[in-house]
Amino acid sequence: MEHQDLDALPLETSSGADFDGGRTLSTRIQAAYRAGLVLDVGTKEGMWLDGTIPTLRRDVHERLLDPDLAVLEAMLADPGSTDLQYGFEDNARSLGAARDDKTRRDLALGAYRQLILLVQALGGLRLGETALDLSPYPMLDHLLDRLVAVLGIEVAFPNPFPGEEGLGTERGILTYRATQAIYQAWRIRQLTAHAERPRILEIGAGSGRTAYYAWQLGVRDYTIIDLPITCAASANFLARTLGPDHVGLYGEDRDADIEIVPAGCLQELSGRFDLVLNADSMTEMSRDTAQSYVDFSLRSADLLLSMNHERNPFTVRDLCGDRLQSRALYWMRDGYVEETARSTRDRPAAGLTRGSSRRSRSGPSHSD
Ligand SMILES: C[S@@+](CC[C@H](N)C(=O)[O-])C[C@H]1O[C@@H](n2cnc3c(N)ncnc32)[C@H](O)[C@@H]1O
Repeated sequence: MEHQDLDALPLETSSGADFDGGRTLSTRIQAAYRAGLVLDVGTKEGMWLDGTIPTLRRDVHERLLDPDLAVLEAMLADPGSTDLQYGFEDNARSLGAARDDKTRRDLALGAYRQLILLVQALGGLRLGETALDLSPYPMLDHLLDRLVAVLGIEVAFPNPFPGEEGLGTERGILTYRATQAIYQAWRIRQLTAHAERPRILEIGAGSGRTAYYAWQLGVRDYTIIDLPITCAASANFLARTLGPDHVGLYGEDRDADIEIVPAGCLQELSGRFDLVLNADSMTEMSRDTAQSYVDFSLRSADLLLSMNHERNPFTVRDLCGDRLQSRALYWMRDGYVEETARSTRDRPAAGLTRGSSRRSRSGPSHSD
């Protein structure tokens, strides 16, 4: 069998993809951003509200409010020219500028190694094909074929924006973020396999890649709650990759597969969720805010699935009390944990009313 020559792994940079609806999308994102800004996002602690990130994103905030929509449209077409995606994507102004050739190669190698881990996690590799530190390394094409076979979908790695760097493949440029998102979407599917139409809430979704792959895996009721400025990033990514009609923004009156709502309207979410996902978000907020998300999850969802680092003074399990159900090392990243916590309420028996299956639409509408 042929084996992968690591030096031959292709490193590529995206040039972005054509998108026709830039102006309409900018209008929608601006309206949702304005409406979300007036909400109370909780204690202003942590790197996202009281650290370097708001400073880095100051000009992003201004562009999001700029009455000249051409300014926003240009930023949304090339978010890597700003720090809109800083903290959840490598395609950000402050990160790209500091990158040398070695770092760029490491990005591609890192994505390849992540792909091995991913296919291994999904049961697509056998003994003898899995070694990460020993040759032989599986061929890239072989790994991709296995990924498609185990997921049962035509996997793509969309690169809607210029400047995304990673491993060149026939399915798009693969980055470490995409492998994480595929794994997370697969875990969501695994843990909600019993539900015919699983209803998912993700807290702090970054660019929304997990929602993208969950959609590819058949999930059609997915809500993202995030800071208004990050909602702009996920709306931008998801509208360009899945299509604008699949995405509903705050204040809009449309029944979309993926709803994106700003932090501060948690209590507006009605009905019950099958699963709430936290991927590397709650431990980066103030403890109060994270606790309110955990309390909401334990009250309003059957299962909380959490994957995160433990660098901060509190962890998610500290907030879950005796509802913590499992704790294991997170497969896809050293030093991370994966935990689940169960609802404080029993699942209603089949046939009982479960309330609305969609979020409350009490946000302002465009005509407000
Ligand atoms: C490290 S990023 C993780 C993003 C994504 N889950 C991932 O793994 O790529 C942290 C996320 O938490 C979000 N976040 C920070 N404070 C938040 C809050 N109070 N409510 C909701 N999301 C918040 C950030 O905007 C960002 O999307």
